Amino acid sequence: FAGGRLTGRHVLITAGPTREDIDPVRYISNHSSGKMGFALAEAAAEAGARVTLVSGPVHLPTPDRIERIDVISARDMLAACEAALPCDILIAAAAVADYRPQAVAPQKLKKSPDSDDGLILQLVRNPDILATLAQRADRPFSVGFAAETENLREYALRKLKTKNLDLIVANDVAIPGIGFNSEENAVSVIDRAQRETRFAQTGKGKIARQLIAFIADRFDQA
Ligand code: C5P
Repeated sequence: FAGGRLTGRHVLITAGPTREDIDPVRYISNHSSGKMGFALAEAAAEAGARVTLVSGPVHLPTPDRIERIDVISARDMLAACEAALPCDILIAAAAVADYRPQAVAPQKLKKSPDSDDGLILQLVRNPDILATLAQRADRPFSVGFAAETENLREYALRKLKTKNLDLIVANDVAIPGIGFNSEENAVSVIDRAQRETRFAQTGKGKIARQLIAFIADRFDQA
């Protein structure tokens, strides 16, 4: 891979869901499979990069020639990413939980024996891993994902700006069969000039190779 597009570059990728504990036996999480992030890691390694893959809890084998760091919570994921710096390119494909329980109960929460009332769980905001890393003075070339069910372009552009990104990969998760927890994806990539490049629906491996080639081009031009 000496002649790869990303030879000599360090690419940091986040993937999968995060898991936020409620008590010793329960947690809050989401349906992210990690497939897109793992496919991107594999494609970046094929392009010659040194790849660090920081992954939440997923059921996927580690691709060849990749350093994988397993984490559970959003705060663990941020710490693992910071420990992996410096990097040239950051691709944040993880579906990070936006909130976590304010405190983890030390013992299993019990149902009230004398009432059928519901339970109120106090949640607090998690750190934004991508925004934190993309706002550093030594910021990497930063690529985020926007998975939306409506107003895709508008929300994606807002994230590009507020998180200080170079590129945002927008995907419409309302369309059955693509995106979250599926084998295929179809995405648009939007840059700071608001130019949009579309990648038609295909397997996540193929989309990943197309995205890595596109990101490598833009990284070279930056
Ligand atoms: O704000 P939203 O969660 O929709 O943004 C999605 C993008 O931000 C993804 O690239 C995701 O990996 C990243 N993100 C993050 N840390 C968070 C929330 C989102 O890195 N706490």
